[in-house]
This record gives sequence, C-alpha cells and structure tokens, in this order.
Amino acid sequence: MHTAPILRVRDLSISFGAVRAVDRVSLSLEPGERHGLLGTNGAGKTTLFNAISGDVKLSEGSIEYKGRTISRLPIHRRARLGIGRTFQTTLTFADRTVEDNLRVAVMGSHGPRFAIGTWNRYGAQVQAARAVASRFRLDEVMEQPVATLSYGQQRELEIAMALASDPELLLLDEPAAGMSPQARGRLIEVLRSLPRSITMLFVEHDMDVALSLADRITVMRDGAIVASGTPAEIRATPLVREIYLGGKH
Ligand SMILES: Nc1ncnc2c1ncn2[C@@H]1O[C@H](COP(=O)(O)OP(=O)(O)OP(=O)(O)O)[C@@H](O)[C@H]1O
Ligand SMILES: [Mg+2]
Repeated sequence: MHTAPILRVRDLSISFGAVRAVDRVSLSLEPGERHGLLGTNGAGKTTLFNAISGDVKLSEGSIEYKGRTISRLPIHRRARLGIGRTFQTTLTFADRTVEDNLRVAVMGSHGPRFAIGTWNRYGAQVQAARAVASRFRLDEVMEQPVATLSYGQQRELEIAMALASDPELLLLDEPAAGMSPQARGRLIEVLRSLPRSITMLFVEHDMDVALSLADRITVMRDGAIVASGTPAEIRATPLVREIYLGGKH
C-alpha cells in the first residue's frame, strides 16, 4: 500500500549571493523512514536542513510536510507541527542544568501556553523527557550544569532535547560528530531503538554509520543530488565510491 510522504521537498534552491548552496533538490520521505544525507564538505546538506526546519529562506521551490506547504512558516510553527532538529554545533544553555534544558525543549514544543508554573501539569512529557535522558545515561547528571558535561554528553543532550519535543520528523545534523567511538556506538543504538512513529532525516559523514542506520540515502555534491537509493544501491554506485569514499574502499 502506498502512503503519502510525510515530507516532500520539490525543486528547492537556496542561494547566498552568488553561491547556489542548494540547487533544485527534490526529496520525499515516507512516514517512519530513516533517511541519510551524505556528501562532501560544502555540499549543501546543512542548508537543506535549515530550509526544512525554517532557519533559512528558500529561493525557489517548495517544502510540504504532511500534505501542507510549510515553505514560509516560521521556525516555531514548524516545531509545533512536529519537526524537531539538532544543530551541527552544540546549542544548549551551558550554565543551566541538564534538567532545565530538557524542560525548555518540552516547553518549546508546546508553545507559550506552557509556562514554568504549569510544568507539573505536564507529567507525561516530563516522564518522557526523563526516559529519553536515561537512554543516554543523562539521568546521572540531571542536576549538573551543561558546561560540566563532556562534549559527547552535550551532543547527546541536544538529541535528547530534540526527542523531548516529541517530534514526528527528527532532523539530525551530524549527530555523532566529535564523539568518542564508545559514545558514537551508544548513540547509534539509541537512534536504532527509536519508534517508527518518528521519521528521521540525518546528515552523517561516516559512511558505515549512515548505511547501517538509513533505509534510504541521498548523496549531494555542489548543492545537487548526485545519487539516491537503498544502502546497498549507494554502496554499489561508482560515482559515490569515487567522490565520497575517495577510493578508500
Ligand atoms: N549563511 C551563509 N552565507 C553564505 N554562504 C553560505 C551560508 N551557509 C552556507 N553557505 C555556503 O553554502 C554552501 C553549502 O554549505 P552547507 O553548510 O550547507 O554545506 P554542508 O554540506 O553542510 O557542509 P559540511 O559537511 O561542511 O557541514 C557552501 O559553499 C557554504 O560556504
Ligand atoms: Mg553541514
């Protein structure tokens, strides 16, 4: 049975002055799909992400989410529709505790009606946020300021924050970047264990990680899509081996 895509990007282009960072990209994600975005530095992956989350204005084309055009909606409206994201670099409140940061993430997804004083009414969300935190073993550091955590833990917190907003579409920009092999392994396990009610689009530089996590892969170069398919198809594409693996496999 064919289901409608949860995300449909059509002929999307984004220019920064003379630089065409994203060049007529079209992409569809089925509900529950885990989609990996690969490509060399400057390929346009983050810019495409930012267009989907609302952080960057598109120049041409359109973005549909659950059948609705969201191209011109502001970030917070998209977040409330169920689009959660992390950034390539860490973006947390460093002087606040892990718990405070998780609260902010839960609140952000529920809009202004969610004031600090009403926190206790949201027991279910709080429980969910704590459950996510414990998957990353952040429950052991709930009361610590974020600045005292290791870099890997801070990245994990960011992902926990994105999950705490209860997203239907989760956008992850290089979630494992800079992590130790151990933290990276744990992260992959957590991402694998997420329910299929969450559709995932992620950027990942490690080909093996991307291929093991994704159902489908899109490869970008110079703003354009140069290959897409299942991990097996991508692995067998000569152009991908040439530009992405640099002949190392
Ligand atoms: N705000 C901006 N202003 C001007 N140019 C930009 C801006 N953001 C990105 N670019 C340019 O757009 C192109 C695509 O950049 P982008 O960050 O999307 O690539 P990327 O695939 O995420 O790369 P990386 O793997 O290094 O993260 C690059 O040439 C970059 O220099
Ligand atoms: Mg990037």
